[in-house]
Amino acid sequence: LPGEAVPGPLAGKRVLVTSGPTHEPIDPVRYIANRSSGAQGTAVAAALRDLGAEVRFVTGPADTPPPEGVTVIPVESAAEMLAAVEKALPVDAAVFAAAVADWRVASASSSKIKKDGGGPPALALAENPDILKTVSHLADGRRPSLVVGFAAETDDVVTLATAKRLRKGCDWIVANDVRPETGIMGGAENAVTLITADGAETWPRAPKAEVARRLAARIAAAFAPAMEA
Ligand code: CTP
Ligand code: CA
Repeated sequence: LPGEAVPGPLAGKRVLVTSGPTHEPIDPVRYIANRSSGAQGTAVAAALRDLGAEVRFVTGPADTPPPEGVTVIPVESAAEMLAAVEKALPVDAAVFAAAVADWRVASASSSKIKKDGGGPPALALAENPDILKTVSHLADGRRPSLVVGFAAETDDVVTLATAKRLRKGCDWIVANDVRPETGIMGGAENAVTLITADGAETWPRAPKAEVARRLAARIAAAFAPAMEA
């Protein structure tokens, strides 16, 4: 009927999306971070929302504002992101689009480090928890039934991303080529290969919103009841 809301294919499904960079403090004024605008993760969250999902959006300090109509959970560091993700569970599906810093400063200084003439400080680093791997290995019941990672690579994208899917234990990996000459990092478009247990599927280069809609549609299809024979 006109004006009546049609329930989307993901109505009633809870979906978690991580997005943006994480910031790992060095001292109160300095940090280590990955390059990430948050554009692709934000677009994925919006596309899932448009299909009717209840979206929990865990975002680091990104340039792109979060979408309307989702639950926004802002975080700074990888440790905070992991805690927020664990708190947002259980969900039906989880998409890990965040560019999580792999390392943090082992002991961040609570006061500003000064240039005291003694030369640059030696920063000891510690490895951050792997959020995607942690969630992929949760026991049945806690583990989302569909876990999707991203893989940003500069060389041999499909081979590395295929290995990464197995190493992480996730169901799908969305691999993108982030060589500077592609203009994808910080750009409006993305060119991705979706890697599943069935193989690799390269999608045409398209605006990030279009890539997000395609991914959301695939997620909806994965949850659709199997068609009668
Ligand atoms: N990821 C995560 N937690 C981390 C590191 C990565 O959840 N501490 C997630 C990212 O959100 C992404 C996927 O893992 O979905 C792959 O991230 P990537 O940086 O490509 O993989 P790494 O395993 O960190 O490998 P490397 O950076 O060495 O290529
Ligand atoms: Ca990494």
